[in-house]
Amino acid sequence: MSVAPLRLVSRRTVELTIDGQSVRAPEGATILQAAQSVGIATPTLCYLETLTPVNACRVCVVEVEGSRVLVPACARKVEPNMVVHTNSARVRHSRRMVLELLASSVDLSYAPAEVQGYLAEYGAQPERYGQPAAAPDRDHAHAGHHTPVADGYAATVAQPVKVDNDLYVRDYARCILCYKCVEACGVDAQNTFAIAVAGRGFEARISTEFNHILPDSACVYCGNCIGVCPTGALMFKSEHDMRAAGAWDESRQTRTDTICPYCGVGCTLQLHVQDNRIVKVTSPQDNDVTSGHLCVKGRFGWQFVQNRGDGRGGGVAAP
Ligand code: SF4
Ligand code: SF4
Ligand code: FES
Repeated sequence: MSVAPLRLVSRRTVELTIDGQSVRAPEGATILQAAQSVGIATPTLCYLETLTPVNACRVCVVEVEGSRVLVPACARKVEPNMVVHTNSARVRHSRRMVLELLASSVDLSYAPAEVQGYLAEYGAQPERYGQPAAAPDRDHAHAGHHTPVADGYAATVAQPVKVDNDLYVRDYARCILCYKCVEACGVDAQNTFAIAVAGRGFEARISTEFNHILPDSACVYCGNCIGVCPTGALMFKSEHDMRAAGAWDESRQTRTDTICPYCGVGCTLQLHVQDNRIVKVTSPQDNDVTSGHLCVKGRFGWQFVQNRGDGRGGGVAAP
């Protein structure tokens, strides 16, 4: 999904073949980076340049001659004389299966157009798994006790949206278990470890410790998990409420970069504004200071801009 620029990770280079093209890539580069350097696009879901690859989604798999199994392009390093096929029938079949299984069990309606495009590109037909089935209470599922669905129905991760604070909501019916939020909350950014994966198999889900509500968890509301979530499973409450009211309209939104006023770090904030109101705040992932990450003040502390009291600041969007 994201584009990985080919950075010089070593002066030494490796020569390999990708889809019949001879490619020279820096030693230590991934197949994904080497392929992108010659314009070969590879779909990704769990990969983000600012996070450690976790190989969770397997949508980026490619065929490497001599390898028994398909390998994840986002994590596998290039090797001399490697011969890679990124678009073989086996690769396309595998990607289609991954996308079908995801789309049949997860609500991808807020996923970016790029992800919707993957479904079309690989001919995924999630509807062939059946009607979406209601899911049992996933938060209390026991590992090893999967509840089968009736014939003609597809198992899903459907569940109510978790709204337990004024800053952001967790809508795990949209979660593809890419682990990005866990990494951002953990060693890759925030080092807070408020969320992790609970359960196993189909019952695996993102959870706070003992499934506590966020205000009772270790969460510090940095929102870095929201910043990396690729499906809208984690969302500003302001956006969630506007979508529920039918008022969310990205075509009418502007994005303006500014510097956070709260401290000397000088994080770049990107203000998303609709109808003269800030509706959410992000930071560019390619920004050297933030790598897309912020703290609670920069991410959520912008109401003072609108609380002018002189009638010129507009209303105050949630939170
Ligand atoms: S808001 Fe920050 S601390 Fe809370 S779960 Fe997300 S990444 Fe972790
Ligand atoms: S909540 Fe979002 S970022 Fe976290 S695992 Fe699910 S899809 Fe990935
Ligand atoms: S993008 Fe490579 S495994 Fe998910």
